[in-house]
Amino acid sequence: MTEPTAKKVIFSAVKPTGIPTLGSYAGALKNWVAMQDEYDCIYCVADLHSITVAMVPADLRKNTLDMLAMYLALGIDPEKCTLFVQSHVSAHAELAWVLNCYTQFGEAKRMTQFKEKSKKAPDNVNVGLFDYPVLMAADILLYGAECVPVGQDQKQHVELARNIAQRFNNRYSPTFVLPEPFMPKYGAKICGLQNPDKKMSKSDDNPHDCVYLTDDADTIMRKFKAAVTDSDASIKYDRANKPGISNLLTIYSVFAKVSVEQAEKEFAGCGYAQFKKRVGEAVCEFLRPVQAECRRILADKSYLQSVMKTGAEKAAYLARKTLSKVYRKVGFVQI
Ligand code: TYM
Repeated sequence: MTEPTAKKVIFSAVKPTGIPTLGSYAGALKNWVAMQDEYDCIYCVADLHSITVAMVPADLRKNTLDMLAMYLALGIDPEKCTLFVQSHVSAHAELAWVLNCYTQFGEAKRMTQFKEKSKKAPDNVNVGLFDYPVLMAADILLYGAECVPVGQDQKQHVELARNIAQRFNNRYSPTFVLPEPFMPKYGAKICGLQNPDKKMSKSDDNPHDCVYLTDDADTIMRKFKAAVTDSDASIKYDRANKPGISNLLTIYSVFAKVSVEQAEKEFAGCGYAQFKKRVGEAVCEFLRPVQAECRRILADKSYLQSVMKTGAEKAAYLARKTLSKVYRKVGFVQI
């Protein structure tokens, strides 16, 4: 009999700074669900990352539980994956401190998101915001993840995690697995409905630009009806010249579960108003059962508690093993 081969480890997270959008699903969560049958998946609600921006405590608590319920409602199965809340596993913050000492100030300063977020909130450029990618590296490296399913905006952070891991391994001995980002061919950057050149973001100031996974059907239809298109009147995927239509085609392909090519064929000769209506309907149809399931799960507080508890225990066990190895290698005395 042959030994069973170890499954590839997958890690990813979403930070509960707001309600997840269609973008969070298309770029990351869709792949999370798809990967759980084949791989050893570890997913978390990254609440430690959330406080790099100003958060009202009650909102953070609510968002964390809402996010966890949304993961479950989308089909992430805690029996198949390790599912937990980041602040329940102290090894994340502990490894992040060690990795800080193997990260250069210059490389952290080059992170695009840090530059953008500092510009957006110049009165709260805190050290946590600067250090955020190092905490993210700790998240990934603690579990030996080879693959990190994310949207395009997180690719640079996963690459930094890889560089930090490589530097640590070279300095001591092989310790960390080198992670790689994994992005969908379509959907790695879903853009705003009003600003189709800009990423759709859950922390955006313009709620019409974003469709949230919890939006009701009327709101969704209204937002799609108002989506920016162009004056060309052809439904073709062309990111450079037709960003609005390409974005809508991508959204349709993700939520109606067809390829972009199939969607183009389906809408050949269709008017823009009709097309936007059909995209909105596909999103509503996908979200209706998910939202109902999410409400059901949120009402079951003891189930959510048990998911968090089991997940935290499983994650803490794995994380502690890596952290102990790291502590030994850097020279901390053991008791
Ligand atoms: P966050 O919470 O901003 O986004 C969660 C995931 O959704 C993806 N995403 C998008 N993808 C396509 N189009 C969009 N418009 C869009 N908006 C968001 C993001 O790329 C991401 O994959 N730092 C991370 C959370 C995190 C993490 C980690 C991720 C913490 N630790 C370790 C991976 C591994 C973040 O802020 O994602």
